[in-house]
Amino acid sequence: MPNRPYVPGDETRLMTIQRYIAQEERMHPEATGEFSTLLRNLALAVKIVSREVRRAGLVDILGRAESTNPSGEDVKKLDVFANQMIINALESGGQLCVMASEENESIIPIPEEFPCGKYAMLFDPLDGSSNIEANVTIGTVFSIFRRVSDGCRGTDADVVQPGIKQVAAGYIMYGSSTILVFTTGNGVQGFTLDPTIGSFLLSHPNMTIPSRGNIYSVNEGNRKQWDEGFQRYIDYLQSNDTVHGKPYKARYVGSMIADVHRTLLYGGVFAYPSDHANPNGKLRLMYEANPMAFVIEQAGGRATDGAERILEIVPTDVHQRVPLLLGSADDVREAEDFIAGRR
Ligand code: AHG
Ligand code: MN
Ligand code: MN
Repeated sequence: MPNRPYVPGDETRLMTIQRYIAQEERMHPEATGEFSTLLRNLALAVKIVSREVRRAGLVDILGRAESTNPSGEDVKKLDVFANQMIINALESGGQLCVMASEENESIIPIPEEFPCGKYAMLFDPLDGSSNIEANVTIGTVFSIFRRVSDGCRGTDADVVQPGIKQVAAGYIMYGSSTILVFTTGNGVQGFTLDPTIGSFLLSHPNMTIPSRGNIYSVNEGNRKQWDEGFQRYIDYLQSNDTVHGKPYKARYVGSMIADVHRTLLYGGVFAYPSDHANPNGKLRLMYEANPMAFVIEQAGGRATDGAERILEIVPTDVHQRVPLLLGSADDVREAEDFIAGRR
């Protein structure tokens, strides 16, 4: 795809997400256009979420929503807004048979008055909620499967599938700019929102992660609970083994989306490992680890639970947690060696 140099003001020549999807469809004659419509509707929803995130301090949308989510965490008003915005934008399009969200205990059925389609979508409407009031980067994460059930309305089976079955996944990061990064299994593409024309424009074609980095990203506050092998791994990253590029730099935003995006761009490792207090870690498999693992693997990186590929984990529950290590393949494998006691 010729990515001609951008001439300011010449938006008519830029690769918008619509043009990109249409181009992809032309390369797949069997494509029915349903997926493109789904992605277009999602892009609409997240533009509205982006607008609200950017003015959250001005309207009464910050702060707690006086409720907790299925994972028992405080829900913020912006979580609720983003969740409802995405459901509203996608339930009527006719591409989905069911949805599931971090904020909803059970699956979200498509209302009877709307047609149902062949996809199932899971999402974390707002990742990094604890950072909202601090105006720190937050984002939306999504994972799309082809349905496996018959009939019209989807079932739990449609959303509780191994990550390897995802047909698309990605995230929208509300940072200094709003960027949509996604994969359909054909590499990773990044689109940056130009708010002056309301279009996502291709800004990061064919994103790839370095095979090794020099940054590690983990919540050191949990150090005392970490398993022994992971503690030794972090000690090694902090050592003066300058011949092997140590010590690494430490960077931790506390919004997975920001930490993963930086890891994708610069390389290194992001981890939320198991610990004595949380043997399954903190992050959720279906709408945090799986989509990020799909993106990172498509960019040439690696994503495991410390041993097994995230994408091959057979899920049992839509809200189940999983330990997560992802990033540059050499870095993740090195961490696995320490965890397994091979180093
Ligand atoms: P969410 O806001 O969707 O609940 O996700 C928060 C997650 C993730 O964004 C981040 O990596 C992690 O929580 C941070 O947890 P700690 O504050 O325990 O480090
Ligand atoms: Mn999250
Ligand atoms: Mn969330």
